[in-house]
Amino acid sequence: MVDKVKIGIIGLGRISSLHLPAYKENGLDAELVAVCDSNKKRIKEVSQEYNVEKTYTDYEELLQDPNIDAVEILTPHQLHLPMVLKAAQAKKHISLQKVPAMSLSEMDQMIAATKKHGVKFRVFENFRFYPPYQKAMELINQGVIGKTIRVDYQMWSGLETLSQWDVPLKSWAWRISEKGNYKSPTLFDDGYHKHSVISQFLNQPIKSVIVWQGEKRIKGTVKWDLPSSMIYVCKNKANFATWNTSLHDFIPMHSKYYGCDEYVSIFGEKGAIYIPGCTGSWFKDCGAYAPGQAGIHWQDENGHRFKDTDIDTDWQTSFTNCSREFINAIHEDRQPEVNPQEARYILQIGLAGIRSVRNNFQEINLKDIKDKP
Ligand SMILES: NC(=O)c1ccc[n+]([C@@H]2O[C@H](COP(=O)([O-])OP(=O)(O)OC[C@H]3O[C@@H](n4cnc5c(N)ncnc54)[C@H](O)[C@@H]3O)[C@@H](O)[C@H]2O)c1
Repeated sequence: MVDKVKIGIIGLGRISSLHLPAYKENGLDAELVAVCDSNKKRIKEVSQEYNVEKTYTDYEELLQDPNIDAVEILTPHQLHLPMVLKAAQAKKHISLQKVPAMSLSEMDQMIAATKKHGVKFRVFENFRFYPPYQKAMELINQGVIGKTIRVDYQMWSGLETLSQWDVPLKSWAWRISEKGNYKSPTLFDDGYHKHSVISQFLNQPIKSVIVWQGEKRIKGTVKWDLPSSMIYVCKNKANFATWNTSLHDFIPMHSKYYGCDEYVSIFGEKGAIYIPGCTGSWFKDCGAYAPGQAGIHWQDENGHRFKDTDIDTDWQTSFTNCSREFINAIHEDRQPEVNPQEARYILQIGLAGIRSVRNNFQEINLKDIKDKP
C-alpha cells in the first residue's frame, strides 16, 4: 500500500483524546477520514476539532465506507466482539483497545474471523510503547541485566487528582459493572496493561497467579477493587513478579492524565533496572528528596550505573508510538503488535486474577482458565 492509510475511529470517549492527536500532528502515514460515536454531541466536537469529514452514529454504516482501510475500536470491552466480527467481514484492518474481550472464547472468535477475512488485527496496548519501557526491553534483550528473575510493579492513585483529567462518570459506570468489566476497574481493566508489561519484562512463561484484594470505598460509597496485590509465578519457580496497587487520599499527584503513577523495578541475574513515573509523576517538584527522577536507571553486570532522564516520559507518547506501529505494519504488510495470540495470553492472566479473588485468593493456574473467570 503506497497511499496514506485511511482510518475510521469508532468510540470517541475519554481515551479517544489520546488517539486522535496522533493523526493530526505526528507524521503518521495515515489520514483520519471518519469517526463514529452514538453520542452526537461528541461527534460534533471531534469532527470540528480534527476536521473530519465523515461522521456516523452507526458503526455498521462506517464499516460500509469503501474509502476506509482500517479502524481503531475504542468502545467499552463488552462491545468489542460484534464490532471486530463486522469490521473483519467488511475487510478493515483492526486496532482494538484493550481489554480486547470478556472471555477467551470471544477472543478466539475475533482471531478466527480476522484470519478468515485476511485483515490485520492487533490489540492496542500502549504501555509496551512507553519509551522507558521500550528502553528496558532493549536492555533486557541485549542481556545487560541477565535473565529476569523478579519484577515489582508499584502503582499509586491519588484521590485528589481524580477530577484533574476530567473523566465523566459514565466512563466509570461500565467499569464497575459485572457485565462490562467483572466489577474490576483495577484488576481487569487497568490490569491488562500491568499483566502485559510484567509478562514482557519477565520474558518467560507465567504459570499461575495469586491475588489478594482488600476493600476501599471511594468517597465512602463506591466500592473499588483496591488495595490489591497480585503475584505472578513463573514456570521456573525461582522467578516471579508482583503488582501492588492502592489509593491514597493524601497523594498530591501530578498528572496530565489519570491521577495515578507507577514505579517499576526489574531484577536480572546480573543487574537491575528502575523506572520511576509513567502515567503521572508523584515525585515531581520533590527535588533532592525525590526517590527517583522520571526516566530509566540501571545497573549492569559490571556494577556500573547508568541513567537516561532525557528520555521522553510523556505517557501520551506511548499512544502515538502504538498508533504508529499499527500504521507502519499496514504499510509494511506485517503483523502489528500486540499480536492476537500474545493479547489472548495477557487476557488469560487477567481472567485468572479475577478467579483468584473469587476463590478466596487461591493460586490459579493459567491453563485452568478455559474461557471466563
Ligand atoms: N490504553 C489505555 O490506557 C486506556 C485508557 C482508558 C480506556 N481504555 C480502553 O478504551 C476503551 C474505551 O474506554 P473509554 O474510557 O474511552 O470509555 P468511555 O466510556 O469514555 O467511552 C466509550 C465511548 O464509546 C461510545 N459508544 C458506546 N457504544 C457505542 C456504539 N455502539 N457505537 C459507537 N460508539 C459507542 C460512547 O458513546 C463513548 O463515547 C475501553 O476498552 C478501555 O478499556 C484504554
